Amino acid sequence: MNNKELLELAEKARENAYVPYSNFHVGAAVITKSGKIYTGCNVECASFGGTNCAERTAIFKAVSEGDKDIYAIAIASDNSEKNEITAPCGICRQVIAEFGLDIKVILGYSKGDIKEFKIKDLLPYSFTSADLI
Ligand code: THU
Repeated sequence: MNNKELLELAEKARENAYVPYSNFHVGAAVITKSGKIYTGCNVECASFGGTNCAERTAIFKAVSEGDKDIYAIAIASDNSEKNEITAPCGICRQVIAEFGLDIKVILGYSKGDIKEFKIKDLLPYSFTSADLI
């Protein structure tokens, strides 16, 4: 599975976004080191704080299936087709970093420009489990 294919899955997952308040659709696709794929979308809530971002939906699906060795996550939004990237929010960066500072974050558009980062570069000087020892 290459970056473009993983982004295509994120773009597809975006179609399930439940976004009656923002109307901003986001999709994410996680691939774990075993090669399994977990997708997610943002799910909003009338009590806005209950909203879950696409990235966390996908990660929580993987972890709740016992598959926490995340290799990469791709993220797509309504802006993707304008060839604009949507970068993960701060909370999602922290959650991605929880499962490995070398996780690849793939942003962009499958039919356009694709960028790849490591989460440690998107969340420098992060607070991690190592700080709690
Ligand atoms: N959202 C995501 O799903 N991921 C992000 O990284 C940024 C924001 C969602 C949350 C909310 O449903 C909508 O986008 C507007 O903030």
